[in-house]
Amino acid sequence: MATTFELKPTRQHLGQTRRSLKAEAAAGGSFFNNWKIIERAFKEDRFACALIDGRAVGFTVWSGAAPCYRLEIESVRPDQRGRGIGRRLAEATFDHLRARGGAMVDLECQPRTSESFWRNLGFLDFHPKIGQHIKPDNLYKIIIADVAPLSDGSCPDREVIELWAGQPFEAKSQRADWTWRVARKPDSPTLALPIVQPCSGDWRVVWRAGHSVLADDKIKHALKGCYAGDLLFIRDLPPPEGGG
Ligand SMILES: CC(C)(COP(=O)(O)OP(=O)(O)OC[C@H]1O[C@@H](n2cnc3c(N)ncnc32)[C@H](O)[C@@H]1OP(=O)(O)O)[C@@H](O)C(=O)NCCC(=O)NCCS
Repeated sequence: MATTFELKPTRQHLGQTRRSLKAEAAAGGSFFNNWKIIERAFKEDRFACALIDGRAVGFTVWSGAAPCYRLEIESVRPDQRGRGIGRRLAEATFDHLRARGGAMVDLECQPRTSESFWRNLGFLDFHPKIGQHIKPDNLYKIIIADVAPLSDGSCPDREVIELWAGQPFEAKSQRADWTWRVARKPDSPTLALPIVQPCSGDWRVVWRAGHSVLADDKIKHALKGCYAGDLLFIRDLPPPEGGG
């Protein structure tokens, strides 16, 4: 039995998905009541399938736009669960979204029984201060290679980005919650690895080269082009004057 993943499923795959969900609904519960959402996602190329010997046995539906996507639904046919299909289908979907400029995927953990499945795949809790529109059962995963924050937070002589989980007036004297060293590719404003962090646009960010402060404000003002949705996503930063 060959398992494959189809990012451009056909109407036939959609029909097979509908029949499985209908049967599952009759046996207890499924995403069949979301059928209109699934059908619309199919029409809008936001639908992928896991296939066994060419027949659909699982699917994902997503929404959003680069760099932030939301995984709306993932489901594997009950008789095929526990064989690694769900994990590989999620990974194939993330590969697809990464190729479309995705940097982060989030989801609402419903049903709650799937929570450990998502945590197993590396999904994390949002910072509790990120904002009221992020619910406690929302999880996220960064799907690109990014630079890790410095573990001890200190880097006084270097060029860094510092971020506080709070507005500038709340974050005056405390130490930053995250500090990233800025490292560029040779002769380029592009970072060797991007800095990626879910955040609120109201949080305080400081861009500093040694003791010279290049920006210190709310993210949405200081680094406008590097903030989309709930994500700080720095790919390029002009080198500070006098070198970098
Ligand atoms: C959640 C779901 C998609 C997982 O698919 P699956 O094919 O059974 O998952 P896999 O076999 O790939 O499992 C991957 C890993 O997650 C674990 N896992 C799978 N389902 C799990 C669950 N419900 N709870 C906890 N862990 C789970 C597996 O043990 C496995 O661990 P490992 O990689 O350490 O071996 C599937 O169970 C399903 O369709 N559930 C109903 C719908 C649902 O809850 N969807 C998610 C919300 S949209």
